[in-house]
Amino acid sequence: MNNSPLAFLDSGIGGLPYLEWLKERLPQESFVYLADNLNFPYGTKSKEQLVKIMSDTMNFLYRKYNPKAAVIACNTASVISLASLREEFRFPIIGVVPAVKPAAFMSRKKRIGLMASNRTIEDSYTENLINEHASDCAVFRYAGTEIIDFIENKLCTATTEEATEIIRPAVDFFINNDVDILVLGCTHFLFLEKQLQSLLGDGISIIDSREGVGNQIIRVLGNNDLLSAEKMDDYFILTGTEKNREKIKNYNWISEKYGLCAV
Ligand code: DGL
Repeated sequence: MNNSPLAFLDSGIGGLPYLEWLKERLPQESFVYLADNLNFPYGTKSKEQLVKIMSDTMNFLYRKYNPKAAVIACNTASVISLASLREEFRFPIIGVVPAVKPAAFMSRKKRIGLMASNRTIEDSYTENLINEHASDCAVFRYAGTEIIDFIENKLCTATTEEATEIIRPAVDFFINNDVDILVLGCTHFLFLEKQLQSLLGDGISIIDSREGVGNQIIRVLGNNDLLSAEKMDDYFILTGTEKNREKIKNYNWISEKYGLCAV
């Protein structure tokens, strides 16, 4: 048993649906969630920049909160830095990568859509994932940089029409390529899943890796005797508020829900 917190990291709000999934199933666990807005967006950074950002961020969490395990609740950061983080830190680190494997299994047409950040789409990790698990499928990739920015910075105040407008080019791309499965390869996209589904129609199913990752976290905690016996405080940390004071307003809803600690 271990009552230390479980750390969640993302460039912003993207990891929250993953955190929520887990909170429902493990109510006795405590969490420290870090939204690294200082470095948002991750998806346009170079590999070298991201490896350093993730190492620095994890070191900060390690020194201040001593987490028992960490979840990189971001496809971009996982794809780029999971291997180096696992070498650097001794506690278990669980990553989130695009659900290409189940998508290939589910696709009848053998035509899959993958929507992710620019870095995830371009990285050789994704190429290898596709070659390894979806070599019998055509995979149509769309870098949703503007959609990620919209979700992180405008979703709270945006109208339904604005949300529809921002996802329309991606929806057209996947419909025109006749895919039957769409993989949400960026954790931010989960916030627009319903809107995407209603525009894509019944012929295209959307999948993400929330359940697979959540179950993996539960397994890792159990196997390492790290499940918590007693609930402690949760922390929600937002970096970069000096850079963008407006940001705090966008995060008001999170303050109300989780309490917010700006650094
Ligand atoms: N949420 C992150 C992911 O899953 C990406 C967001 C960003 O580009 O910062 O890839």
